[in-house]
Amino acid sequence: MGRAFVYVILGGGVAAGYAALEFTRRGVSDGELCIISEEPVAPYERPALSKGFLLPEAPARLPSFHTCVGANDEKLTPKWYKDHGIELVLGTRVKSVDVRRKTLLSSTGETISYKFLIIATGARALKLEEFGVEGSDAENVCYLRDLADANRLATVIQSSSNGNAVVIGGGYIGMECAASLVINKINVTMVFPEAHCMARLFTPKIASLYEDYYRAKGVKFIKGTVLTSFEFDSNKKVTAVNLKDGSHLPADLVVVGIGIRPNTSLFEGQLTIEKGGIKVNSRMQSSDSSVYAIGDVATFPVKLFGEMRRLEHVDSARKSARHAVSAIMDPIKTGDFDYLPFFYSRVFAFSWQFYGDPTGDVVHFGEYEDGKSFGAYWVKKGHLVGSFLEGGTKEEYETISKATQLKPAVTIDLEELEREGLGFAHTV
Ligand code: FDA
Ligand code: NAD
Repeated sequence: MGRAFVYVILGGGVAAGYAALEFTRRGVSDGELCIISEEPVAPYERPALSKGFLLPEAPARLPSFHTCVGANDEKLTPKWYKDHGIELVLGTRVKSVDVRRKTLLSSTGETISYKFLIIATGARALKLEEFGVEGSDAENVCYLRDLADANRLATVIQSSSNGNAVVIGGGYIGMECAASLVINKINVTMVFPEAHCMARLFTPKIASLYEDYYRAKGVKFIKGTVLTSFEFDSNKKVTAVNLKDGSHLPADLVVVGIGIRPNTSLFEGQLTIEKGGIKVNSRMQSSDSSVYAIGDVATFPVKLFGEMRRLEHVDSARKSARHAVSAIMDPIKTGDFDYLPFFYSRVFAFSWQFYGDPTGDVVHFGEYEDGKSFGAYWVKKGHLVGSFLEGGTKEEYETISKATQLKPAVTIDLEELEREGLGFAHTV
């Protein structure tokens, strides 16, 4: 026994929410669309979890950050799904998928069949155990991927006021959580293996500016090393962490942000996997023509760079979702997904945006001394391929976005580009 839908979205995160809105805008009928999600709540803007959700005063709580408020669009509450005839199956894990038969089997034993499947399973946080360290299940060791994690982290933060936190990982989670911990009056030490924070994107010069600010806020950095073990009390609570370089750090709280793995396991052996994600074409369609993939789990062609990429950011989740729905519901009019990678972050009073690809030669521009408005360009084979800007206005961000999308030739030398700074993007 089971139910049949025309469209099924597997996963109920950011991409699912944006896909649902697009379906309704394109005219889906009552009972045609089902979203099935392991999480017990309707899709929400995941970025809130490391920012507003962790504030000590007036923290963000659902329903305030359901999708699609992050794009200044409608807020899709559970009632919205009901009113639009969308079946929202929450708190339910899909255990297996049979792509040939077009069916899903849920943890409750129900079989759901589809005509079109959209995979929006996102990713899971990598665990320390995968690096040979035991102790992730201790009550004060926190990961941050979903609402349950965020609730737990918020509770541990409350009981750790004026205590010590060790943040493992110098990427997005590490930097955003460290800032939130400081705001909660917790002493923070960040530990990561690279020479500087945000190594996947920041240059040493950009990183040092943010690190100096964090240091001024009391954050300590221990770089070039990793965690080797935890120490526990008799309640199995972590009391300290030991690092490979011999350091021993007392800890009331540990936050771990050491990267993610896309949730592809249901499809291995059934669909083509590339670069860790489900390979799709420029219509977000997988190697099975009835199955589409969007968001963190999808590896898609980035036309601008002529390469397959898997991105782990909210803007690509939103836009790939809309594109897949458009390709399904209006295949003739839907062209290729022509996406300009866009990443951003907000910590303390900082706010930066990045467009494109951080490869090639780097040119820094702007006011690095006062740390208020500064940026960088990446130039590869004579073309602008990436732009970073901290503290820009809405118009300035639009300018660097538009310029990077055009991948213009850089005909001036790099010193002149540095002098021109933002002016260069304005002339493109
Ligand atoms: P997402 O992870 O949102 O959703 C996947 C859903 O699938 C989940 O609901 C999961 O439970 C469900 N699922 C998985 N397997 C399932 C199964 N077998 N059965 C049923 N359900 C299943 N990006 C950015 O650009 N700027 C930012 O500031 C931030 N900030 C940020 C903060 C934090 C704390 C995180 C964790 C992430 C960010 N991101 C971000 C990244 C951004 O949130 C991310 O790229 C999107 O959430 C990806 O959307 P998806 O829908 O692909 O996955
Ligand atoms: P990340 O890939 O940004 O950073 C992982 C970090 O883990 C690396 O920088 C490295 O310092 C560290 N690391 C790797 N192996 C380690 C080890 N063995 N020991 C110690 N440190 C180790 O991943 P993340 O910070 O965990 O973020 C998870 C996901 O959430 C990513 O997809 C990210 O894009 C997303 N996210 C994005 C934003 C944003 O875009 N503003 C904010 C939060 C989260």
